[in-house]
Amino acid sequence: MKILIIGGSGTIGKKVSAHFARNHDVLVAGRVSGDVRVDIAEPQTIEAMFESVGGVDAAVCIAGDAKWDAFEQMSEADFYVGLKSKLMGQVNLVRIGHHYLNDGGSFTLTTGILADDPVMLTTSAAMVNGAIHSFVRAAALELKRGMRINAVSSGLVEDAVQRYGAYFPGHNPIPMEKVVNGYVRSVEGKGTGRVIRIYDNG
Ligand SMILES: NC(=O)c1ccc[n+]([C@@H]2O[C@H](COP(=O)([O-])OP(=O)(O)OC[C@H]3O[C@@H](n4cnc5c(N)ncnc54)[C@H](OP(=O)(O)O)[C@@H]3O)[C@@H](O)[C@H]2O)c1
Repeated sequence: MKILIIGGSGTIGKKVSAHFARNHDVLVAGRVSGDVRVDIAEPQTIEAMFESVGGVDAAVCIAGDAKWDAFEQMSEADFYVGLKSKLMGQVNLVRIGHHYLNDGGSFTLTTGILADDPVMLTTSAAMVNGAIHSFVRAAALELKRGMRINAVSSGLVEDAVQRYGAYFPGHNPIPMEKVVNGYVRSVEGKGTGRVIRIYDNG
């Protein structure tokens, strides 16, 4: 399969890219990293990315930002960071990208545990994750040519504990192999309209 991974150089992305590269043709995209340039918050760069890459069998997005801050500090503009990047960036990837996906191809978007189990400072990040879950379920009903779409929603990943662990008191980090498997289920499985949750609430 020809697999395009936006954010494929990031903390999660590099593990996912390395796994798929064993058996597939992987192209990594990012604003400054990878094989192809794209900023998902800028739709014209999504179009340009697909024009340069051509047809793909799977488009995986492991990128997108949202502003983290106390609710009382959040301005309307702060909320628009997440709406423009993580939410509409991924929606636009599908809106534009479905014209370029090969028959039977798949989209895999990335959300996170905040949709179901938010922590302090995440009114925006939790909100956009939940919106993406609803988008994925609805878009699956309308995608044609056998195309599929899923979201991978994981808990705090092991490789990010140093950076974000303090924000997730009592959360059990998710081993990277389990996170990678979420993406494998979406890309190599046959399911669609699914939110693939990888949480450890035990
Ligand atoms: N870390 C966790 O524990 C965790 C858990 C669940 C969900 N998530 C979600 O998973 C996603 C990736 O997290 P991460 O920790 O792997 O992040 P990361 O280490 O910051 O990596 C993000 C990657 O995405 C690219 N990127 C960022 N913004 C982009 C944009 N606007 N357009 C195109 N590429 C962009 C970056 O490359 P360039 O700098 O070259 O653009 C980088 O390769 C995020 O949406 C995050 O919320 C993370």
